[in-house]
This record gives sequence, C-alpha cells and structure tokens, in this order.
Amino acid sequence: TAKTTDVLARKNAEALLGGGQKRIDAQHAKGKLTARERIALLVDEGSFEEIGKFVMHRTKDFGLDKEYYLGDGVVTGYGTIDGRLVYVFAQDFTVFGGALSETHAEKICKLMDLAMQNGAPVIGLNDSGGARIQEGVLSLAGYADIFYRNTRASGVIPQLSAIMGPCAGGAVYSPAITDFIFMVENTSYMFVTGPNVVKTVTHEEVTAEELGGASTHSTKSGVTHFACANELACIQHVKKLLSYIPQNCEDQPPMLAYDTGNGPEAERRPALNSIIPDNPNQPYDMREVIDAIVDADSFLEVHKNFAENIVVGFARIGGRSIGVVGNQPAVLAGVLDIQASTKAARFVRFCDCFNVPLLVLEDVPGFLPGTDQEWNGIITNGAKLLYAFCEATVPRVTVITRKAYGGAYDVMNSKHIGADMNYAWPNAEIAVMGASGAAEIIFKREIAEAEDPQAKLQEKVQEYTHKFANPYRAAHRGYIDEVIYPEETRQKLMRAFQMLENKVATLPKKKHGNIPL
Ligand code: COA
Repeated sequence: TAKTTDVLARKNAEALLGGGQKRIDAQHAKGKLTARERIALLVDEGSFEEIGKFVMHRTKDFGLDKEYYLGDGVVTGYGTIDGRLVYVFAQDFTVFGGALSETHAEKICKLMDLAMQNGAPVIGLNDSGGARIQEGVLSLAGYADIFYRNTRASGVIPQLSAIMGPCAGGAVYSPAITDFIFMVENTSYMFVTGPNVVKTVTHEEVTAEELGGASTHSTKSGVTHFACANELACIQHVKKLLSYIPQNCEDQPPMLAYDTGNGPEAERRPALNSIIPDNPNQPYDMREVIDAIVDADSFLEVHKNFAENIVVGFARIGGRSIGVVGNQPAVLAGVLDIQASTKAARFVRFCDCFNVPLLVLEDVPGFLPGTDQEWNGIITNGAKLLYAFCEATVPRVTVITRKAYGGAYDVMNSKHIGADMNYAWPNAEIAVMGASGAAEIIFKREIAEAEDPQAKLQEKVQEYTHKFANPYRAAHRGYIDEVIYPEETRQKLMRAFQMLENKVATLPKKKHGNIPL
C-alpha cells in the first residue's frame, strides 16, 4: 500500500542524510566529500548496490539509546569499475565521526566475506575517529574481526585502502595489512598515537600533518604508496591501479588490445641507444628507460617519493600488464639499501600474488655500506628482496642496462634465482665489483711493487675491465640469454612476455614460507 512505501521512502531519505545536513556541511567545509559522494565518484554510474543501509548500533550506554543513525557510520555495497565487480565500504564521518562500532564492523566483515567468496577486490574508503568510544571492547573486537579477514584475504583478492580523513590508533592496522594505501594530502592522517599522546610520552611537539600526513607517509615511512592532491585524484588513482590487476589470485590481469601488425620496426626505440652516459659513473633517470620501453603513458609509479633509489610500478607492454622494478642510478647511484629492498620486495610479492609478470631493469652498484645500514639490518632487509624474487613464480624478465655488481647481481632477478629471460645491453658490466676497486685488491702487491704504481693500477683496471666489465662472460655461460641492442629492448620484451604467457611453476608444498621480516 501507499503507506508502507512511504515508510520505506522516508527511511531511505533518512539513511542518505547520514548524521544530518549540518554535519554534511561541516564535512564539505573541511574540503572533504561524504561517503556516498566518494562512492559515486569511484564506481560506474548507477552500478552501486548498497548492503545494510538500515543497520543501527545496539549500544545503550552513554546516551546512545537516544542517538541512532541508519547505516551506523559506514556505507557498504558492491558495484563496478570499468565494468568489473568491486566491493566498497566508505566510512561516514558525519555519523559519530565515522567511529567503528560493533555493527559498523559487522557490515565491513559481511562485505569482505562476500568479496572472498566471489573473488573480487575490496576497496575501503577510510574516514574515522577510530574505535566507537562508547562501545569499549565491542569496538575493539570489531577491529580484530576485520584484521583477521584482511589477513585471510591477503593474496586472494586485492585490497585497497584510501585514507580520506583521520585513521588513528587500531584503525591503522586494517589498511596496513591491505595491499596498497592511498592518502589525500592535507585532509588525511594516520598514526598509532596522536600528537597529544606523543607530547605526553616523548615530549615531542608535532602536528597531525607532520606526524602522519600524506607527505610524511609517502616520503619518510613508506606507509602510503600514493599521496594524492585531493579526493578526486585519490579515487582516480584507485581506479587506475585496478586496471592493471586481476580480480583475484586465480584470475589474469586485464589485457588491453594492442596492434602488433606494424612489426618490429614500429617497436624500435632508438632513443635507448644513447640513454646510458659514456662515463659509467654518470647518472641517468631509469624512468626514462621505463617510459621508452613500455606502452605510451602506461607507467603508474608506486611509492614514487619513498626510497627513490629503486623505482617500482605498473605498466603495460603490448597491452599486457606488468610490474616494473628498476634500480635508479639518478638517486644514490641506484644502490640497494634497507628501504629500497623492502619497498621492492613488497611490490614483487604483490605482483606474484596476483599474476602480474615482472620486468626488472638492472643498474646496481651493490648494497649501501655503513654502520647505519648494518645496525638497522640491511642483511635481514636485503634478504627480503632476494627471497621475494626467489619465491616468485610469475613470468620474470631482466634487462641489465649497465652495472650488475656483487650480491646485488644475484638479488636483482638473476637467472640463478629463477628469472625466465635475462637480457643485457652491450655496455653491461657484470662483475663482483667495479673494475678499479677490484684491481686494487687483487693486484695489490703488483701495484705496490711497480715502478709507477699509478700506471700499473691503470693497466690492471684496463685488464679487469676487458675481462669482466662486459656481458659476455655471463652470456658464454648462459646466465644472460641474449645481449641486445638497447633500441630493440621493447620488441624483445613484448615477445618474451608473450612467450611466457602460459608459464606454469609451483613452489614446494609448505604451510607458508618464512620470509625474513
Ligand atoms: N567515538 C565516538 N564518537 C566519536 C569518535 C569516537 N572515537 N570520534 C569522533 N566522534 C564524534 C564526536 O563526538 C563528534 O560528534 P558530534 O558530531 O555529535 O559532535 C563527531 O564524531 C565529530 O568529531 P569532532 O571531534 O567534532 O571532529 P574533528 O574533525 O574536530 O576531530 C578527531 C576528529 C578524529 C580528531 C576527533 O574526533 C578525535 O580525536 N576522536 C577520538 C579519536 C580516538 O581517540 N579514538 C579512539 C581510539 S582508536
């Protein structure tokens, strides 16, 4: 009858208002969108189906028996992005500051269970004052229920977290377990304890933005993978990232149409022939190499401003999605240090979880020496990257563009640790160390006893360079499959990844490995 539908219409309208117009206005005044506005920007128009719109909290303490809002501070549901199914939850700051209650958590858990059973990504839009203080342990239990599901879902379905407001205390650990974190500059922050507690405990004076804003976490801690200028940019980044990855671990990444009909000539990139400076100690930007190799404008860099001595990100080559890991000679000579190792290791593991083939562009002078690195565990942390590559069963291709020195040669997706195809450019130097260091050590006595030690050193450096600072020793052994002209790199890689398309490789039966953490 008209009467019952009126009730429904009234409830629907009430639910849409969340915590009320005044609080929606306050949200807008902070430069933030509401949960529903964010979802509307994220998913394909008209595709969103909400679940649990009328859910309410069950708390009676502290006056909450008189304060109810339909939906209880989180909007959950499913929809599509570029036609592909996604599950979304968006915390509604207008309802108790988006604080997480028992029922709020139940809604998120229900969504995650559906996502797991149906094999599609979960996207969380976080904007919350943390645990619903009036609920005590019920709220903490709710967090734990989510953490547990995040961990179970890890490696099964992609999980993305966008931080679009506060995310503090226990709330940080759900995003932390997910695959990628996006933050909005100036309106979002993440910390385990806020500025007030920090001041009491450590006497440090720090603003929320400095302590845990987007720029802090994208440069200093590496907690966030993307710092975005505003909410719209953040949502666009989320969508873009999804375009490179599959729906779940048994699915393949989306493949874009690519016309290979123009033949090898069309794929030639002569600019690559002159990209490496004549002087092996001169830097160059590995991003330029990446851009020249992959499909035009397809590179989506991850962790752009963190551990910049290694570059990681998604790209396409011939329409095929790949993950790229490149040493960056323009920063710290591209050396591997603790942060670079953990950054790349996590990226490699993500790609391996979700069937994204890996391309490694190698120009690495070794691991960074020093007490700072040793005392903070470069051994354990460097081992993460080594382990991640060793373990990866996705198609793996390496191109050595210049230096491949020492243990870092082994680590950076060498043939020996399971890479499928290994290429080197003609100027590649594959050796235990640089020629001058090597000559100084192995010809120490000869040089010291020479009439002109300097000339002797030069002679020995030449000798070492001639013998080792080239790709041919490795190619003679088959450690390098082919030495290629830089300009033909794109064509070679397109074919290699196509050739490896149906690769089958399995790990020995185990519960799970024990990556050095
Ligand atoms: N539990 C219950 N309600 C909460 C809450 C929480 N954790 N956090 C915020 N709220 C409520 C506020 O009481 C306020 O309610 P109102 O609209 O009825 O006045 C509303 O959410 C908005 O909060 P407000 O403090 O006005 O917003 P703000 O933008 O000025 O500050 C925070 C946001 C998150 C910094 C601040 O609310 C805060 O510090 N919250 C507590 C954080 C915390 O310690 N959480 C528990 C540990 S995880």
